[in-house]
Amino acid sequence: GFEVVAEASGKEVTVGPDETIAQALGRIGIRVQMSCEQGVCGTCMCTVLEGIPDHRDSYQTDEEKAENDQIAVCCSRALTPRLVLDI
Ligand code: FES
Repeated sequence: GFEVVAEASGKEVTVGPDETIAQALGRIGIRVQMSCEQGVCGTCMCTVLEGIPDHRDSYQTDEEKAENDQIAVCCSRALTPRLVLDI
């Protein structure tokens, strides 16, 4: 797992291997707007303040993914032990 800090909400949660970031955030009462839940539509994009996402979506271009400043929380994970999101 990895830690996700929801900076604007002042909360953090550990994302387990069998859940998505969105599900983990939901457990601590943070609801993210979602639609496709498959990394296609971009509805669930969140701003990344710290850490490097493991992008699993097909919404962002490769260039956008390389900037590591947005993450699709319905499907993407983390390459760093901790991600700080502006949510
Ligand atoms: Fe569609 Fe995450 S809900 S990309």
